[in-house]
Amino acid sequence: MKRLLVTAALPYANGHIHLGHLVEYTQTDIFVRAWRMRGREVAYICADDTHGTAVMMRARQEKRSEEAVIEEMSAAHQRDFAGFSISFDHYGSTHSPENKAFADHIWKSFRERGLIRSASVRQLFDPVEKMFLADRFVKGSCPVCKSPDQYGDNCDKCGSTYDATELIDPKSTLSGAKPELAEAEHHLVSIESERPWLTEWTQVEGRMPKEIANYLMGFFLGKPLLDWDVSRPAPYFGFPIPDAPGHFFYVWFDAPIGYIASTKQWCDRTGRRFDDYWRSEETEIVHVIGKDIVKFHTLFWPVMLKVAGFTLPSRVQVHGFLTVNGEKMSKSKGTFVLGSKYLEHLDPAYLRYYYASKLGPKVDDIDLNLEELAARVNGELVNKVVNLASRSSRFLAKTGFAASYPEDGGLFDEGARAHDEIVAAYESWDFARVTRVAMALADRANEFVDRAQPWALVKTPGKEAEVVAACSIALNLFRQIVIYLAPILPKLAEDCAALLGAPLDRFEAAKKPLAGTPVGTYQHLMKRVEPEKVQKMIDESKPAETTTTPTLPAPASTPSTAAVEDSGEPLAKEPIAATCTIDDFTKVDLRVARIVSAEAVPEAKKLLKLTVSLGGEARRTVFAGIKAYYKPEDLVGRLVIICANLAPRQMKFGLSEGMVLAAGAEGEAFVLSPDSGAKPGQRVH
Ligand code: MSP
Ligand code: ZN
Repeated sequence: MKRLLVTAALPYANGHIHLGHLVEYTQTDIFVRAWRMRGREVAYICADDTHGTAVMMRARQEKRSEEAVIEEMSAAHQRDFAGFSISFDHYGSTHSPENKAFADHIWKSFRERGLIRSASVRQLFDPVEKMFLADRFVKGSCPVCKSPDQYGDNCDKCGSTYDATELIDPKSTLSGAKPELAEAEHHLVSIESERPWLTEWTQVEGRMPKEIANYLMGFFLGKPLLDWDVSRPAPYFGFPIPDAPGHFFYVWFDAPIGYIASTKQWCDRTGRRFDDYWRSEETEIVHVIGKDIVKFHTLFWPVMLKVAGFTLPSRVQVHGFLTVNGEKMSKSKGTFVLGSKYLEHLDPAYLRYYYASKLGPKVDDIDLNLEELAARVNGELVNKVVNLASRSSRFLAKTGFAASYPEDGGLFDEGARAHDEIVAAYESWDFARVTRVAMALADRANEFVDRAQPWALVKTPGKEAEVVAACSIALNLFRQIVIYLAPILPKLAEDCAALLGAPLDRFEAAKKPLAGTPVGTYQHLMKRVEPEKVQKMIDESKPAETTTTPTLPAPASTPSTAAVEDSGEPLAKEPIAATCTIDDFTKVDLRVARIVSAEAVPEAKKLLKLTVSLGGEARRTVFAGIKAYYKPEDLVGRLVIICANLAPRQMKFGLSEGMVLAAGAEGEAFVLSPDSGAKPGQRVH
């Protein structure tokens, strides 16, 4: 079997992972784990997609470097993925020296083939920010249906697509200014010469879902392919184009190259040969993507790979979009749920199982209905699967499995015969079928246990051997099902391995029952879904003003492990003060506080009046000299640190009863926040 290299699309570094993203990373993870369970060598590679205007603007707003922004986001993404048991072999970044080197190499290959031309492109320009505007940074009224407040590429209301220059009353979302039309030189790649082989390549059976291959044929490959604009003029956060000063690679040029660069980092880190992966017929490459980014992966990307001498993917797996309760995810309805928010309340296994049960081989959108999720998890995973173990394992704690596997009327063999169907279903991305087959097996196993009734039998003297036999059967049937579900439920598989003292890391293991081996003490394998927790998650996903329990808006600059600009300059400007003793320090009573209201003091140039809560009824009024740096509304809800025992001070505008801690010299202020989880009133030690 050839080696397998699997990628999921590289998430943008300008936002957090939400439940929509997880449709992709989860299904890819399931596929990867299923192949690993067949003993195949698989690498699962991903990275953050860091470049572009959005990250640049965010960095400007937050007054820090792009590097600081993307490092913090990468850490958050990786935390979220780990929380959902996504088993990447390597997680890189497109902002890496490796990626720059590969991007330069591919660019050079296009140049050598004479496929690059320059052209003057007219585009909307923000005269205040002094930059060209990507479509998503222009809003105006739809030229077709006249709906106001539409983005520069398509209309939410009537679905029309158009050019940003056609918008009525366009406004820059960056400055609010009316954009002007300006010309800039751009660099374009011509891919029309590649159309013949590309057409053939896309139409190979199994290369991609049939409906996608047809779409490409119908919309693109039947006529000349347009040149692709791959450059952006400064200012832009990205890689400078080596032979075009002042121009940068468009984010979509170097984004997929990140697949290669991240693989290279992984190879270097683990002592593998890079050429075995991207320049070898011995490796099969599979890309998993959402339906919104098909064009980039099936037209431009294969051309880039071919021109530069890399292996082309053998499959591009495309999935649909997530809706929640039949609608687009919505912040105001609380259905735009972040991965991290989900993990605060619910077991990741629920979502993995639910998604798997909905994923077929077609490019359909999938709908998340949280009531259905609860019903399925409780009815299928808890009642049918986990229950098998909880009802039988305790009767084997002393004896272990029967010395030889008892006669079970063919139940185990029937399960073993499902092996091939399970394996084929995983291979063809039909995870819904996996769950259906597994549940049918679970039904049989439960019927058996219901008939055998070990809990009743155990009360009858002389029936000990029968109890052991019945439970040995039930527990082996349980194990068989968990093996089949292991790629979907890795944590359950691990816990089951620990309970039964035998690994569940190969599908083959489902063909042989355990006999004569010990059984551990049963511990909870999975809890039922608690509807209150689901509700809490939804409530807390709504914008702050409509939640029942207030949630924090993302602070302007979250405490970060990222390497921010560490110039050493602040320390030089303001050297460390004279030594103090621990007693001196403990005199200062620092507390966590939540800002419950904030308003500007009209007569004071520098002051905001803050009301902070120290938990319960305890409130303090604090005047803080941060008016120039923070909007009052951005502060409400935030946790801060205050000095709580500072002598109150009568000011012209009222009594100030403490001090909010902030860093920064003259002309700047960065308010300190504790990590999330801290509670108002807690002391800072
Ligand atoms: N950065 C690009 C991909 C570059 S790949 C070289 C990007 N990033 S993304 O963060 O917007 O999306 C990452 C992946 O998640 C994409 O494949 C996208 O289709 C998928 N999804 C994002 N939102 C989704 C849903 N609501 N539902 C299902 N998948 C979705 O695109
Ligand atoms: Zn419209």
